[in-house]
Amino acid sequence: MTVVLVAGATGSLGSLIVKNLLERGATVRALVRPSSADGGARLRDVAGHENLTLHVGDLTDGAAALAPHLAGVEVVVSAVQGGPDVIIDGQLELLRAAETAGVHRMIPSDFSINLWGYDYGVNILSDLRRVFADAFRTSAVARTSVAIGAFPEYFLGPFHEVLDPAAGTFSVWGDGTRPIDITTVPDTAAFTAAIALDPRTAGRDVHVVGQQMSMLELRNEVEAASGRRWALIRKGSLDDLKAEIVRRQFAATNPFTYVALQYQKGMFDGSASLTDVRNADYPDVVPATVAEYLAGAGAAHFEVPSAPVALDEWPVTV
Ligand SMILES: NC(=O)c1ccc[n+]([C@@H]2O[C@H](COP(=O)([O-])OP(=O)(O)OC[C@H]3O[C@@H](n4cnc5c(N)ncnc54)[C@H](OP(=O)(O)O)[C@@H]3O)[C@@H](O)[C@H]2O)c1
Repeated sequence: MTVVLVAGATGSLGSLIVKNLLERGATVRALVRPSSADGGARLRDVAGHENLTLHVGDLTDGAAALAPHLAGVEVVVSAVQGGPDVIIDGQLELLRAAETAGVHRMIPSDFSINLWGYDYGVNILSDLRRVFADAFRTSAVARTSVAIGAFPEYFLGPFHEVLDPAAGTFSVWGDGTRPIDITTVPDTAAFTAAIALDPRTAGRDVHVVGQQMSMLELRNEVEAASGRRWALIRKGSLDDLKAEIVRRQFAATNPFTYVALQYQKGMFDGSASLTDVRNADYPDVVPATVAEYLAGAGAAHFEVPSAPVALDEWPVTV
């Protein structure tokens, strides 16, 4: 049985990666922070699983403190979330510990649009992941990056300003006809567990996707699932989008006010589109369609939030 350590195991994506790895027969070490030493709510239903052990540690503890957790581990999956202290410095400590322990492969916490389709300076959160990826150039640990497009849990939430249930609007930059890549959090976890256990992925970027559709098609799906009309707001051209990003950056006190638009730029101009989609390599992962998502958990997007949503912290899923 492959031994896998999952960092960020208490998170919305990481906890589902843990569950999928267990279902695939892996031996899983869940790295949890002291504040979640019991595994927290998201791991409660698998807490007593015979192939799961909880390892208490924080990436900021440093490589020496992390190394004992990694002894005997073959693959590390990171699903942590945070700023440069976590995505660059913290993951670097995890990589150094993995090198010491002789880990074969690591999946960093990318889980994004195709961030290699554009350069530095386009998306501040992609830049963090790009800096960390550079560390693998001189590492004995092989990097496997998983790209999935956008989580609909976030893309249709307030962070992206696409759906506004109070106003009944659906907003689009550009003409809305280019296909975008959409994969739910549970499907990303299912693919990631399969990829983690697939040694062919060493040193590769692996693109997998739930469904590809244009923004105009997505609006049709939203209308069909919600049973109501969503007025189409054309916010401007893709050049207008770039100008809006610059305007927000200038005024920003934190990146959350503009980073969603930076993702949309890459999605709508095609620079961040997935290429060489490898779903066929993982035939036992059958991702949900957008219609299925919207008929289930995604129906929450149609409800008017009870309180105004502050866009100044990491967004939470529906
Ligand atoms: N493609 C998309 O549309 C999209 C959208 C959102 C997120 N993502 C990506 O998905 C990945 C996971 O995001 P998520 O939403 O699942 O995040 P999340 O729910 O916020 O979970 C983050 C996890 O990281 C852990 N963590 C944070 N700092 C840590 C540290 N210093 N040491 C150890 N663990 C630490 C947290 O532990 P605690 O529970 O103790 O806090 C938690 O388990 C990220 O790479 C994110 O960028 C992609």
